[in-house]
Amino acid sequence: MCGIIGCVGREGAAADVLSGLQTLEYRGYDSAGLAVVGSGGLRVERVRGRVADLRKRLGRKKLSGSAAIGHTRWATHGVPCEANAHPHADCTGRVAVVHNGIIENHRALRRALEAEGHKFTSETDSEVLAHLVERSLSGGADLPTALRRAMRDIEGSAAVACVSADAPDTVVAARRGSPLAVGLADGRQYVASDALPLVEHTRRVIYLEDGELAVLTPGGVEVFDRDGLLVPRAPTVIAWNAVAIQKEGYPHFMLKEIHEQPRAVEDTLRGRVAAGTTAVDFGDELPAGLFAGVERMVVVGMGTSWHAGLIGRNMIERLARLPVQVDYAADFRYRDPVLDDKTLVLAVSQSGETADTLEALRLARSLGVRTAAVANVVDSSLAREADGALYTRAGPEVGVASTKAFTSQIAAFYMLAIRLGLERKTLVAAEAARRINNLCAAGRELRRVLESAGRVEKLAKKYAGARDFLFLGRGTGYPLALEGALKLKEVAYVHAEGYHAAEMKHGPIALVDENMPALFLALKGRRYEKIMSNIEEVRSRGGKVVAVASLGDEEIARHVDDAIHIPDDIGVMNAVLAAVPLQLLAYHVAVARGCDVDRPRNLAKSVTVE
Ligand code: M6R
Repeated sequence: MCGIIGCVGREGAAADVLSGLQTLEYRGYDSAGLAVVGSGGLRVERVRGRVADLRKRLGRKKLSGSAAIGHTRWATHGVPCEANAHPHADCTGRVAVVHNGIIENHRALRRALEAEGHKFTSETDSEVLAHLVERSLSGGADLPTALRRAMRDIEGSAAVACVSADAPDTVVAARRGSPLAVGLADGRQYVASDALPLVEHTRRVIYLEDGELAVLTPGGVEVFDRDGLLVPRAPTVIAWNAVAIQKEGYPHFMLKEIHEQPRAVEDTLRGRVAAGTTAVDFGDELPAGLFAGVERMVVVGMGTSWHAGLIGRNMIERLARLPVQVDYAADFRYRDPVLDDKTLVLAVSQSGETADTLEALRLARSLGVRTAAVANVVDSSLAREADGALYTRAGPEVGVASTKAFTSQIAAFYMLAIRLGLERKTLVAAEAARRINNLCAAGRELRRVLESAGRVEKLAKKYAGARDFLFLGRGTGYPLALEGALKLKEVAYVHAEGYHAAEMKHGPIALVDENMPALFLALKGRRYEKIMSNIEEVRSRGGKVVAVASLGDEEIARHVDDAIHIPDDIGVMNAVLAAVPLQLLAYHVAVARGCDVDRPRNLAKSVTVE
């Protein structure tokens, strides 16, 4: 949450920061600002609103200077307003900081600083950083030392970038908890909350470790550990380029990413499974022996990743006969969970930076429990800290609503389930081969589903006026129902409930009337007849029913108001196919309602605070 960026090395530093803020806006967008150090000293510009509003505010003003920092905010402490927007300056107006995270002891620090005479101008926790840096500078410290001391004084999480009018060619950045990536270009260096805004300038990136501090100057970057000792760090080269974070003709990232799913899922599988074979090869991503002797797995995640975990549980229990518990990471970490050396904790996350998921993983590690991650962002904290990380390779996901990350996670879980089934000898080779063939057909089948996207768009227009929506399913259809409801809530602001269809009669059916449409996951399969009974129960109470149904199931049309037919020939991987109409429905309802699809209100892409 919140995006920060810094640039040093040329006159146009502010322009690079502005364009980076635009890319980072998916991390938060209730206010934006930047600070530039130029010949006239430090200049700070901030607005309530978006980066576009900041651009408007700047108009034709040229902000010259070779060091700049910027911030796009998702408010935690203090309402979204100009005074609470970052960067925050110190009392002298010569130092500015941007911060992502939460400073838990900010009240005590503020009281102490105020007692020393510091004047605060915002309600934020972040402002203490500017005054802490000021205090050290006035005592004679240089900027890196001043920021290091400030980082020592604070408790909580912080990714910080800092500039000073007295160090016009320097940006200093430090990381505790919240992530930071440093980008190395010729004569220019960058630092940002993630690598997305860096790729338009460079693909050579250093991901700072927890506790590290980086000093950026036009000539290069030096990285220091928490004790101030220089640490040699070689950059990694990012595999994707700036095109991956452009809309490429689509009106929104969400729609682009929905359509990228065939490619994303194929990339998840590439080199790991092949049609006609029985092997699942994770290379050294999941070290050999990681699962040896494991008798129980706990999957932790939040939001969409948690939903993928529920589907993963079904797959692993069925194929590998291994008990799997799925927990909200936020609950797991505070529940004093029962763990032992026969348990493996598997953390699932697109970003690999979700605070609760990361802390759940750290808790497991601190108890000596084996861990693994299913993550999309390469070199994310989660991936680096787990004993093994299986990358989903969906590519950068920019839309706040998770789409291709979800279906790639499902594909990753299925591979893992097959692999574990083979290792544990609960799955015979012929059966593994059949399932791998299904996996490998997923990209092709996703393309078929996307061919009928127009049908979902029409339906979305029909239902766009609904104030409430029910999503119902059984088996794998249940987590899909949760996911469909989450998508509709977050991008279209329509109240939606996802329920297990069997739960209907235990309460929610009381909600059903002609104003409450219900979407059923009604593919043919073991639970089909039960789902059909549930559909009748809703219809007989006046409810409108939409069904995601199997291609060829024309009979269902007689029992529902609208059906979306999809192919269903790839077994449990049908889940990825059924996810697509749910995503498209949410997307088109949101567009019809005039919502800001890629930047839904109150949300941010990565929830890096608790
Ligand atoms: O990056 P993560 O997968 O850990 O994020 C978890 C959730 O914050 C995320 O899935 C969220 O629910 C999405 N906005 C859903 O579309």
